[in-house]
Amino acid sequence: MIYLDHAATSWPKPDSVVAACQHWFTHIGISAERGDGPRTREAFETVQRVRQGIAAMTGHPADRIAFCSGATEGLNLVLRALLSNESRVMTTPFEHSSVVRALLALRDQRNLTIDVPDRGAAHGPTTDAICEALHKQPARVLVFTHASNITGGVFDAKRICETARKVGTQTVLDVSQTAGYLPLDVGADVVVGSCHKAMHGPPGLGFVSAHADLAMLPQKYGGTGSSVALERHPTEWPQAFEAGTPNTPALFGTAAALHWLGEHGPDVLLDRSLVSLNKIEAGLRELPKVRILSPGTTTRTPVLSFVHDDYDPIEIGTILSGQGIHARAGFHCAPWAHEQLGTSAAGTVRIATGPNTSDHDATALLQVLKRL
Ligand SMILES: Cc1ncc(COP(=O)(O)O)c(C=O)c1O
Repeated sequence: MIYLDHAATSWPKPDSVVAACQHWFTHIGISAERGDGPRTREAFETVQRVRQGIAAMTGHPADRIAFCSGATEGLNLVLRALLSNESRVMTTPFEHSSVVRALLALRDQRNLTIDVPDRGAAHGPTTDAICEALHKQPARVLVFTHASNITGGVFDAKRICETARKVGTQTVLDVSQTAGYLPLDVGADVVVGSCHKAMHGPPGLGFVSAHADLAMLPQKYGGTGSSVALERHPTEWPQAFEAGTPNTPALFGTAAALHWLGEHGPDVLLDRSLVSLNKIEAGLRELPKVRILSPGTTTRTPVLSFVHDDYDPIEIGTILSGQGIHARAGFHCAPWAHEQLGTSAAGTVRIATGPNTSDHDATALLQVLKRL
């Protein structure tokens, strides 16, 4: 199979990641902070290594890294913690459903005002538009994706977070599409991500990384391994944001993934992924009847979408699948972005390459598309 769906999840995972998960199942079997002995210690040290690794990426302290099941859970928890009744929140039209749906549900419950600068603008939104909107009408919280999961376009998160800080708006940055590719230490108050995309960890693990001074109360309650004698859920991090048995095999896999990322270098992995993506984009530009949805900038993630005048995205997905090519066709869990891009009727074909996507893979894809 030619796998071109790395924006959904990276595959194959590095051998060391698979081996680390296997090691947990075969030799460890228990969680950190649940019991005593060498296996608990190994689990504890591994989990600490993941906290430290993510802290090094986001620039937040290691004890402010909490684990959750993915960016979806992390974003839901953080938005619930930061937004109270009547809060004003700002976001962008390029958000994943894990932001859009979480905000709409909270609006119903807490009567939020949701500002979406440049929604409906043909180009939008740009970093400029967000900064201008913040100056005009600061919000309590700005939640935004670092990169679009449909076009690969990247926001200048550093400039946006700087502007937000000046006007007193707290920032929540969704790095699901950039963690493992781009620097995440951009000054956001909270950084939320999943470990199974460009970080190359297993699915079922995400993180909330918070600035040391940011107060956020627990949003789910339960066992924490430590502070077990307390009747109430602890308010100290990271336990404040963690409850229940953790996904320790995924934590072992992610520890290995962080090591693998460090060995290869995120910028090298991104460049490698962009070589095949750029070849695909150049090939698509030569095809009549194809409209490409891509940022056209050098800072980007290895993701693009396209639509075809004569074929529905789903039809193209089926044709590709028949040729052993796994791309993603239809809608991509970002309903406002489809509106913005004019693809609300049928979605797009999304191509997302990874560091192992070869020149041969790109050629094979283009050959099928040329025959349409
Ligand atoms: C931009 C963005 N945010 C959030 C998510 C949700 O991630 P998960 O499904 O791992 O919770 C995704 C997943 O596709 C995404 O692309």
